[in-house]
Amino acid sequence: MEKTIKQEFEKRFGGEGTMYASAGRINLIGEHTDYNGGFVFPGAIDKVIMADIRPNGTDKVRVFSVDINENVEFGLEEKDAPAQQWARYIFGVCREIIKRGGNVKGFDAVFAGNVPLGAGLSSSAALESCFAFALNDLFNGNSIDKFELAKIGQSTEHNYCGVNCGIMDQFASVFGKKGHLMRLDCRSMEYEYFPFNITGYKLVLVDSQVKHALVDSPYNKRRQSCERVAAKLGIDTLRDATKEALDAIKGEISAEDYFRAKFVIEEKQRVLDVCDALQRGDCETVGRKMYETHEGLSKDYEVSCEELDYLNDIARRCGVTGSRIMGGGFGGCTINLVKNDIYDQFISTVTHEFNGRYGHEPKIYPVIISDGAHKC
Ligand code: GLA
Repeated sequence: MEKTIKQEFEKRFGGEGTMYASAGRINLIGEHTDYNGGFVFPGAIDKVIMADIRPNGTDKVRVFSVDINENVEFGLEEKDAPAQQWARYIFGVCREIIKRGGNVKGFDAVFAGNVPLGAGLSSSAALESCFAFALNDLFNGNSIDKFELAKIGQSTEHNYCGVNCGIMDQFASVFGKKGHLMRLDCRSMEYEYFPFNITGYKLVLVDSQVKHALVDSPYNKRRQSCERVAAKLGIDTLRDATKEALDAIKGEISAEDYFRAKFVIEEKQRVLDVCDALQRGDCETVGRKMYETHEGLSKDYEVSCEELDYLNDIARRCGVTGSRIMGGGFGGCTINLVKNDIYDQFISTVTHEFNGRYGHEPKIYPVIISDGAHKC
C-alpha cells in the first residue's frame, strides 16, 4: 500500500510528501456507553489508513483517494463541504482545526487504506485521525494535544457527516498502542492501558458484510433515548443512573427508552468486570460478559440484525468462549474470543453455515492490537 501511495503522489504532484498512518479499532466490551459518559475498552488494530501529505504553498487542498480512484479539490475557506463522503472527513478535520484556532494551509495528499468499510471497524475515525495527526505535525508543531485530535475527528462526524457519535473510535485511533487495550472513562476522560496477551485464546472478527442502511439514523435515535431518560432522572448522563432509579420512573417513560437505558446501565458495569477478569487471566468471565452484551444489544438496545444473531448462535454452538456484535451495530462484525484448540473448527463451521444460509461467506479478520496514529 505504501508503495502505491508513493507512486501516485509522484505521478500527480511530483516528488514525495511525509507518510502518516492511523488505525481502525476493535472494542472488547463497552458498547454505546461512550456517549453516556460510561466506560469503553477498545484497542487499535493492524488495519490502517495511510496518507502521503505535503504542503503546497496555496490555500487549496488537493487529495486523491487510491481506493476510490477519485480526486477532490477544495478551498480551506469554502463554506460547503465536498459532495464526496470520503472528502467530507478531510474537509471537516481541516475546518475543525481552524475553528479551534489551529493552523491549516493548502496541501496535496494521496491516501489508501485496508480498514474494511462499513464493517464497524471505524474506517472513518482512522481517516480523520490520520489527517488530524498529520496536520498537527505539518502546520502546528504538534501543539494540539491528543485528546483534542480525537475530538476534532468526533466533531467532524457531528458537523459534517450527521453522525452524533461518542469519542471511542477517534480515541482508540489516536491513542492506540501495540499489544494494549485501553479502558477509557468517557466522563473524566481518564484512561489506562491494559496489556493484552491472553495465552491459549485468539480474538477474531467475523464480518457478516451486512451494511444496513441507517434509515432515520437509528444510531442518533438510540442516543436520543438515553438523553431523554437522563433528563427525566435529572442527571447529565446515564453514567450516574442506577437500575433502581430507572425502575422508579419506569411508568413515566416509553418501554423502548426503558430498555435502552437498562442496557447502558448494565453495560457500564460489564466493562469494569471484564477489565478485572482480564487482569486475573479469567477469560471465561470475559467471554460470558461478551455474550451478555450481545443479548442486551440484540434484545434491549435493538442494534442487531438476523445475520449477526446467527453468527452469535453459531459461536455459542461451537463452544466459543465469548462472542458479540461489535461497534454501533446494524451490520458489520462480531468479535469472538476463541480457544486455540477450537479455532480452526469454528472458522470452518461459521464460514460454511453462514454461506449456506445467506449465500456468501463472512470475512474473517484475526485481531492484532497495534499502534494508533503515527508518522511512518
Ligand atoms: C460507533 C460510534 C462510537 C460508539 C459505538 C458504539 O462506533 O462511533 O462512538 O458509540 O458506535 O459503542
